[in-house]
Amino acid sequence: MAKRSTFGSRFGTIAVVGGSVIGLGNIWRFPYVAGENGGGAFLLIYVVISFLISVPIMLSEFTIGRASRRNSMRAFRKLSGIRAWRLTGYLGILTAFTILSFYSVIAGWALEFIRQSATGEFMSMSPAEIEANFNGFVASGWKPFLWTLAFVAATAIIVGSGIEKGIERFNKTAMPLMFVILLIMCVYAFTLPGFREGISFLLRPDFSKAGGGTVLQAIGQSFFSLSLGMGIMVTYGSYIKKEQNMFRLSGTVVTADMSIAILSGLAIFPAVFSFGISPSSGPELVFLTLPNIFTQMTGGQVLSLLFFVLLFAAAITSSMSLLEVVVAYVSEEFRLRRRTATLIAAGAVLCVATLCLLSQMPGSGLRVMGSNIFDFLDKTTSTYTIPLGGLLIVLFAGWVMDKGRFRREMTNDGRFGAALYGTVSLMVKFVIPVVLVILFLNQLGIIKV
Ligand code: PHE
Repeated sequence: MAKRSTFGSRFGTIAVVGGSVIGLGNIWRFPYVAGENGGGAFLLIYVVISFLISVPIMLSEFTIGRASRRNSMRAFRKLSGIRAWRLTGYLGILTAFTILSFYSVIAGWALEFIRQSATGEFMSMSPAEIEANFNGFVASGWKPFLWTLAFVAATAIIVGSGIEKGIERFNKTAMPLMFVILLIMCVYAFTLPGFREGISFLLRPDFSKAGGGTVLQAIGQSFFSLSLGMGIMVTYGSYIKKEQNMFRLSGTVVTADMSIAILSGLAIFPAVFSFGISPSSGPELVFLTLPNIFTQMTGGQVLSLLFFVLLFAAAITSSMSLLEVVVAYVSEEFRLRRRTATLIAAGAVLCVATLCLLSQMPGSGLRVMGSNIFDFLDKTTSTYTIPLGGLLIVLFAGWVMDKGRFRREMTNDGRFGAALYGTVSLMVKFVIPVVLVILFLNQLGIIKV
């Protein structure tokens, strides 16, 4: 068998894993979820959960990947010798494929907004016109299609160029760029009159809004934001060098992910409050609310361009990781060249993405269980398949995989994180499974937390 690729450098590894975790989840989802769920209180819960629950899961995924050096379907089977564990791998690959399909549609919108910002198209529009402009764009069908096509093609070209030459190289440039853009936006936000109000919406702790549901919200947000539960980190783990310290890697990535989420909130909310707009959630915040704000700001056009470039960069670095999971599987299982496998995977993604965007057109009959296909896929993955995947992964790591091998791989034969290992193992074996079962039963409506 050919030597398997690995990441080239330590910074490269951080950039690639960071590129996956930092995405739309940080830039529009986190600020809003935090604001609605008690601000600083949510943030506190979120930090605790990220370190106690998400870091051990991330470490487990890395360990499974690096120990097996296989795509995520084969990893579970190889380390257990039990065929049925392949299903966990399949579930993850399917989840990644599905997320990528609707993620590409939103990323396509970001491209359209880069174009509109560059030409200054919406700068002179009224709020009603901005809304009509956006709805008209979605309703046309072909415009979103072309942008989605462009986005999927760009992702495929990078992924097709290989781990080190494609994915790693792109991320090493994109990650610092994203940080710089966000910092510029934060500095700008600092000068706005709504700065205090925005910050207080995001950060002031309101414990009356925090309850059992908040904890579950925080877990869901943390999983999505850290790309956990679908074998992405198993696949990326399989490219991590044997000598790398995975404890430090996880700590760095989780900290970077949280910082970007908080910085996004600090950049967005002061602007929202300065212009007297009520913070709304979902794609609207980014594609309707923000353009309205940009039209009123001095330097709005430049900021708008920067912001949508940021959004696009965040989306494409995450999409690569999603596509990589599928490509690793297709190329290794069907013994195809990387490029061929990428072409097949990207083609399939484009088909489902097209169904998503057609189902968003007004009057479209493409609906599943009362929602359009886009919303249906979004809800199914974040509510069911991601937590289920996370649960299966910790059960595998804690109870199925050989204990000694798990410990040796995670700690590099006791060199790193030996003091933390006991806690991680306790969390993986007992605490996280219980928490995830509760989360899952709650999602299914069997218990109410
Ligand atoms: N973590 C990414 C974000 O925060 C989204 C993502 C989810 C990427 C799952 C890959 C896999 O937007």
